[in-house]
Amino acid sequence: MSRFAYVSGRYLRQAAATVPIEDRGYQFGDGVYEVIAVHGGRLVDRDLHLQRLERSLREARIAKPVSDIVLTMILDRVRALNRIDSGIVYLQITRGVAPRDHTFPGRVDPQLVVTARRAKPVDPALLEHGAAVITIPDERWARCDIKSISLLANVLGKQRAREAGALEAWQIDREGLVTEGTTSNAWIVTGAGEIVTRPAGHAILNGVTRLVVLQIARESGLDFVERAFSPDEAMSAREAFLTSTTSLVVPVTKLDGVSIGDGRPGPVTRELRSRLLQHLDRLS
Ligand code: PDD
Repeated sequence: MSRFAYVSGRYLRQAAATVPIEDRGYQFGDGVYEVIAVHGGRLVDRDLHLQRLERSLREARIAKPVSDIVLTMILDRVRALNRIDSGIVYLQITRGVAPRDHTFPGRVDPQLVVTARRAKPVDPALLEHGAAVITIPDERWARCDIKSISLLANVLGKQRAREAGALEAWQIDREGLVTEGTTSNAWIVTGAGEIVTRPAGHAILNGVTRLVVLQIARESGLDFVERAFSPDEAMSAREAFLTSTTSLVVPVTKLDGVSIGDGRPGPVTRELRSRLLQHLDRLS
């Protein structure tokens, strides 16, 4: 089946869609992006994604190419053209097309690209047994709160995880504390049953799934605290898990080869995942 993309004003067959080689996204990674889940044909938590996009654009000093209303129409049109009922919509905005020079071009139009695809369902075995995660040094820049398309360190980290037979790599800052995964946020549940995740700040991407899971914990009366934790604390935790738009909540049962808790996905993780699924069903 043919796939369609939106490229700066036009809906095109993806195979025929191109961007100029002097797009600053291509030459400098000078752009920002969002990945939004589609569930039951609806964009999940769209407003939270649009708020984060707005913030990324502001921090990157990139002009917003279209209003939220127009952007929402484009996202939904690309979703519909690709007949996505369950999957993701990807959008990226780059500073524009101009002769290569680091300083901002004088007059330039930001370029918007939108694609959509079906989701690969999370492997049921992963949910049953939990994921293995490795730790790696956090070698990214100091503004991980901006959802920048410059993802070389994340790409290298994820590949290291893959080659180690792990799903994800948790990145460790100079203080020896976990920042986040390469494409997900990191969580533990302590022996006392408290849910712990690193506070939002420049060191992590403030995941939309992270925000929704915190809200679910609040509404469910579960104990939680936003603070950093070390790999050692994670290894002796009762449970661990990761969150992202594409994987929702996935249990983590091994960190650097050490079993977490009893080595099986724990009840808090399961509860949060099922409540998040209910949240998705309510939206659609
Ligand atoms: N990644 N941290 C990083 C570094 C991420 O790249 C992501 C998302 C998250 C989780 O954010 P959210 O819950 O909003 O998806 C945390 C997306 C899915 C990606 O790059 O494909």
